[in-house]
Amino acid sequence: MKIGHFITFEGGEGVGKSTQARLLADRLKVAGHVVVVTREPGGTPLAEKIRDLILQQRPKSPEAEFLMFAAARAEHLSAVIRPALEAGQTVICDRFIDSTRVYQGDVFGVERALILAVEQLVVAPTIPDLTIVLDLDPTVGLKRAAERGTLSRYDKARIEIHDDLRQGFLTIAQSEPDRCVIIDAARSVDVIAADVWTAVAARLVPACG
Ligand code: TMP
Repeated sequence: MKIGHFITFEGGEGVGKSTQARLLADRLKVAGHVVVVTREPGGTPLAEKIRDLILQQRPKSPEAEFLMFAAARAEHLSAVIRPALEAGQTVICDRFIDSTRVYQGDVFGVERALILAVEQLVVAPTIPDLTIVLDLDPTVGLKRAAERGTLSRYDKARIEIHDDLRQGFLTIAQSEPDRCVIIDAARSVDVIAADVWTAVAARLVPACG
């Protein structure tokens, strides 16, 4: 049974997800929430090992890669996310199901039916209450990622792929407006954080506004 709030941040590379996750956590803590900030792939020692494996050496098969993400997610859900939610804590996760739908599904060609079946098996019913999609022109995001020295193998892909990623996140957000909010990430960190707070306060914690 899920009791606490589950919030995810999604978007392409260099959009500022981890910065915004941290700022939101700080603000929620001030408002009296117990907050767990975590990320995918990763979030547990085993899932972090799977992350290292995936990021260091891309599997040849997109399905193999997809199943590695799914294994990391299953571990993360049972060891961290579900126990925290059941204890009434707020969980903020940097990437979750939408990254899989967009990267593995839209871009790397894993069948949508397989993605949804595994999502049903591994994730349901722990669907985020709120997903914040940070939207940014990929040329700006990639420049930011390059400046901070965190270019992954995905970052180095052709710019068209990053345009597809951006469009993939926007399409999901538009088709699930009850769960998702799109926020323009081309502005200053503080302005974006204010919009994130407005979305969270309006949907999840009106008493804390
Ligand atoms: P990060 O750069 O946000 O830490 O994420 C690592 C990479 O993993 C990023 O390029 C996106 C990718 N990824 C997927 O392809 N599928 C997924 O399900 C997740 C969670 C991440």
